[in-house]
Amino acid sequence: MTKASERKVMRVLAGETVFPPPVWLMRQAGRYLPEYRETRSRAKGFLDLCYTPDLAVEVTLQPIRRFGFDAAILFSDILVIPDALDRNVRFVEGTGPLMDPISADAIASLDASGMHAHLASVYETVRRLRSELPSETTLLGFCGAPWTVATYMIAGRGTPDQAPARLFAMQHPEAFMKLLDLLAEISADYLIAQIDAGADAVQIFDSWAGVLGERDFSRFAIGPVKRMVETIRKERPGVPIIGFAKGAGAMLNSYRSSTGVDCVGLDWTVPSAQAREIQKEGAVQGNLDPLLMVAGGAALDQGVDEVLETLGHGPLVFNLGHGITPQADPENVTRLLNRVRGAGQR
Ligand code: CP3
Repeated sequence: MTKASERKVMRVLAGETVFPPPVWLMRQAGRYLPEYRETRSRAKGFLDLCYTPDLAVEVTLQPIRRFGFDAAILFSDILVIPDALDRNVRFVEGTGPLMDPISADAIASLDASGMHAHLASVYETVRRLRSELPSETTLLGFCGAPWTVATYMIAGRGTPDQAPARLFAMQHPEAFMKLLDLLAEISADYLIAQIDAGADAVQIFDSWAGVLGERDFSRFAIGPVKRMVETIRKERPGVPIIGFAKGAGAMLNSYRSSTGVDCVGLDWTVPSAQAREIQKEGAVQGNLDPLLMVAGGAALDQGVDEVLETLGHGPLVFNLGHGITPQADPENVTRLLNRVRGAGQR
């Protein structure tokens, strides 16, 4: 039996260099896997897949069985939080997520009192996962960062530049901050409930951090995540937190110190010199271009070697720089794992 603190991903999150580094991939459970598509076809809709523990446990475990990743990530979605707030969330085939766009006036009447009851099946999934996973596998919980979740709640859908949310923040600054505050508070509670159900560590996905100017990055991305980290630290000390602010560029340099996260997620555009500087202060996670999982071959090998050369000498959780796409070839995941795990021998 491996104790939680001895799991490889946990050792790296505590700042230790482990070589070859442990590996998991963002969105590792998903449509690129035929077994996921099969299970998905048995669920009524995507949210039913998230809220049915039998199915959610199954799809979480699929990539662990097939590839033996060092971490499993709870199968759910960042949009279960707006769903718990009754925003009429639905996932439409070919369109992506939709929900009712929220008005400035409606923000004051958002009611989170039913959240834990609404999400009880997610906590049940986490509990079952911890008992079914191999003892050496880290179990990650997650949620969206308030800014990223707010972009969907305001636009009612995914947008290329998050213009609706940025405009809303300009036109209704008080209501917007109220929304971010509420999301920060309930998202921290949500992560604490995942931790209590058995998550070893948690990741906060700020997938749309990259569209924010400096002042907005500080107010909308850093501030709310910092408050979440403070709450989780106070309530559940010692549980590692990974912060992934995709596309944050130069603003990533101070992300660890300004938010308090233990590990900084790096997307594939982060230059190697910057990535190394960030790693001097602690663990990093990333940052292979996800398209290499489609391309494969020598390009994939070279990409893996570059990440290992740049970041393999310090605390690294090997990952992609964003989620694996439906077009990825599962064979390329095997190739990646063999390349990373064989690196000790080369
Ligand atoms: O990583 C994992 O394996 C765990 C599961 C997970 C999903 N979504 C499953 C999912 C995680 C961690 C997420 C996070 C998520 N969801 C983010 C942040 C990370 C990122 O990728 O930027 C965001 C922005 C979302 C919102 C979301 N959910 C979108 C935009 C979409 C549609 C786009 C798409 O890829 O289809 C989803 C749906 C979704 N979430 C799918 C999966 C496997 C595909 C839906 C399906 O199977 O039909």
